[in-house]
Amino acid sequence: LQTLPPIQLAHKYFDLFQEQRDPLWQNPCDDRRHRDIWSRDKTCERLPKFLVIGPQKTGTTALYLFLLMHPNIISNFANPKTFEEVQFFSGNNYHKGIDWYMDSFPYPSNTTSDFLFEKSANYFHSEEVPKRAAALLPKAKLITILIDPSDRAYSWYQHQRSHKDPAALKFSFYEVISADQNAPLELQMLQRRCLVPGWYASHIERWLAYFPPSQLLIIDGQHLRSEPATVMDEVQKFLGVFPHYNYSDALTFDPQKGFWCQLLEEGKTKCLGKNKGRKYPTMDLEARAFLSTYYQDHNIELSKVLHRLGQPLPSWLRQELQKVR
Ligand code: A3P
Repeated sequence: LQTLPPIQLAHKYFDLFQEQRDPLWQNPCDDRRHRDIWSRDKTCERLPKFLVIGPQKTGTTALYLFLLMHPNIISNFANPKTFEEVQFFSGNNYHKGIDWYMDSFPYPSNTTSDFLFEKSANYFHSEEVPKRAAALLPKAKLITILIDPSDRAYSWYQHQRSHKDPAALKFSFYEVISADQNAPLELQMLQRRCLVPGWYASHIERWLAYFPPSQLLIIDGQHLRSEPATVMDEVQKFLGVFPHYNYSDALTFDPQKGFWCQLLEEGKTKCLGKNKGRKYPTMDLEARAFLSTYYQDHNIELSKVLHRLGQPLPSWLRQELQKVR
């Protein structure tokens, strides 16, 4: 029998079994053999019970802020690099392993009543995320927010401009959405990032290939924006979190901000920063018409998915479907 030092042996192993190079982390406590060798100092409870998966620009930060107001809902520690987002299941953080992920969360003081969660808005459209999330957190509940994908794309473009993305500064919104294969590569790439998250039905179907529909809550972003207290009641019911938190008393509409904000003592308000609820010109009609056509088939598919799930259609979707008839 021959062997090699551990690192060389590992290289040899992954040369032979290339398909195993990409790990798929599972919960160590789900398998007795793993649990038995798992350190006594570690707990498997330091993992989220639910994920806010995005997509970006639909109101995910507002939902995040509202969730944190609940006494038993606790998020990850702030990550200085990605702001509040852990972005574990997407990108390179996944390869840092589950210890790294667990270290992103505080120890829950009561594993039954505490609800750990994280919000990473790029999970929604990332190819590899549903499979990875289901492997580690098969019981996790998922929350997604949908707004008109055309408005989402426009808000995302404005977001890139304010972050001084060179391509977004150089090209108009219409140029971005209508670029063809002959357009400069940077423009084509920006276009993909702008438009692909709005293919809602395809992304939802990918999540549903790994999670049962009962674990997925789809929020109408318009409703979250106009009646957050009602939506938060729905969210609490879906999560099964206690005690019931009265958002009607805890939120107030701030006329200056033009959005609902957290009500603090002495009538002060805590609203999201300037980068949420930005002021920018309304989308021009040519761009709106272009995107309406672009998203038509995706929206038809979305209406079928929502119908199958027994979910009501948001008003923007009903309006878009009327344009088809
Ligand atoms: P705009 O800045 O384009 O208006 P996300 O947090 O997912 O990036 O979404 C940002 C969007 O959330 C904002 O887009 C804004 O329209 C919407 N939003 C919904 N409720 C909000 C609230 N209470 N405060 C601020 N923005 C809110």
